[in-house]
Amino acid sequence: DWTPTSFIEETVEALQEKIGDGKVILGLSGGVDSSVAAMLLHQAIGRNLYCIFVNNGLLRKDEFPQVLDQYEGMGLNVKGVDATARFMEALKDEADPEKKRKAIGRTFIEVFDDEATAVDGAEFLAQGTIYPDVIESVSATGGPSATIKSHHNVGGLPDFMKLKVVEPLKALFKDEVRRVGRSMNMPEDILGRHPFPGPGLAIRILGDVTLEKVKMLQEVDAIFINNLKKWELYDRVWQAGAMLLPVNSVGVMGDERTYEKCVALRAVESTDGMTADWVNLPYEFLQATSNEIINKVKGVNRVVYDISSKPPATIEWE
Ligand code: XMP
Repeated sequence: DWTPTSFIEETVEALQEKIGDGKVILGLSGGVDSSVAAMLLHQAIGRNLYCIFVNNGLLRKDEFPQVLDQYEGMGLNVKGVDATARFMEALKDEADPEKKRKAIGRTFIEVFDDEATAVDGAEFLAQGTIYPDVIESVSATGGPSATIKSHHNVGGLPDFMKLKVVEPLKALFKDEVRRVGRSMNMPEDILGRHPFPGPGLAIRILGDVTLEKVKMLQEVDAIFINNLKKWELYDRVWQAGAMLLPVNSVGVMGDERTYEKCVALRAVESTDGMTADWVNLPYEFLQATSNEIINKVKGVNRVVYDISSKPPATIEWE
């Protein structure tokens, strides 16, 4: 019978056996999977686990410093790397969704490789791959999802990273990963966190990405997410976020005519992200959130709510 406790015991033992005195590198994303994988390895090999947490400048508002603090609080040997400028440079003037993904994926590998090479004598690369990732990347090789979107966080290693791969969560489903994390007393806000795409806010800013647009969207997103938490709706939603549209529309403020940005809010329920439906959020919630966004975020004068299901729409807009 599968229990978190027996899984942890067996996995820690197997990791110790496999790794011995070797050094392991792991990229933390702030998400559930990489965080739980890190904690398992931490239990198994302690300081021989070298975690790298890259800020691509496309995370949620304040997420980088806050999550980095949490990781340190969990005792992890973690290095935070702020590569915002490098990612922004790679994204400069790029408006095509797939090219944006590729630029981010490429830059991530470059930054990560610089950091990994700095760890002397590393032998292993750990990843938070879970069972559905394995299935999806296998079925995607010939299937439509491979061509629709290139999910850059699954797949082969670049040639220059000749490390042996360790994937302690490869046989688990998401809910099992959460149970393992709970059993290791990890912070509930890491375990309960909504999924967040690797390319981050870049694929929620339609068109080209600038630091100014990222800042604007971070403010909008923070209001939306904080309100979901305040109204106790966060845990009833599978994933939520805001999209910054490449559209200006006319508004009025006092006796001034405005011509400013429009944002779309999206909240979906789903079990695996493959299909999804929009969440019937209370009108009062939408009203309060829309007012707060328009009042507080300079440059936004219109808010809409996305009522499309997947398929045919996708969860992200790019
Ligand atoms: P879509 O938009 O395809 O999203 O319905 C399904 C789930 O996948 C996430 N997503 C990504 N995750 N890299 C990622 O790591 C990506 O390029 C990417 N694109 C979409 C999305 O947030 C949702 O959870």
